[in-house]
Amino acid sequence: MSNSTFTMIKPDATSKGYTGAILDQIIKAGFKVKAMKWTNLTPAQAGQFYEVHKERPFYGELVDFMSSGPIVAAILEKENAVADFRTLIGATNPAQAAEGTIRKNFAASIGENAVHGSDSDENAQIEGNFFFSKLERF
Ligand code: CMP
Repeated sequence: MSNSTFTMIKPDATSKGYTGAILDQIIKAGFKVKAMKWTNLTPAQAGQFYEVHKERPFYGELVDFMSSGPIVAAILEKENAVADFRTLIGATNPAQAAEGTIRKNFAASIGENAVHGSDSDENAQIEGNFFFSKLERF
């Protein structure tokens, strides 16, 4: 069981002014912020982050969207972090997300779905390392 996961608040949510409300929901759910940064990915960086989806038909759209505006990247800590965070954010497609989840509350579509959450302990490590050096976490 992991105690760490990685998240991004995506450009749709930052541009609509939802960053504070989403962070509030995350913190109230018991997650501690271990590292955080506000940044704007280049298309190359977004493409590298989502390389695992390179063969998917939505890859180009995903890269364009994720580099279209600011994102907030963070490493979060909590017992059972990966699974609990995925429960908190809800289904990838907000139309299928449970009531009260972050995607139900803030997401518009499967592409513009407000937040990312790691899907495994291994990916949480890889994704956190993509954004943060040892000096940037505590
Ligand atoms: P995320 O959790 O960040 O991981 C991969 C992302 O790909 C996912 O959220 C969605 O935003 C995006 N995605 C998945 N399926 C589709 C789709 N059918 N069309 C557009 N984007 C998608």
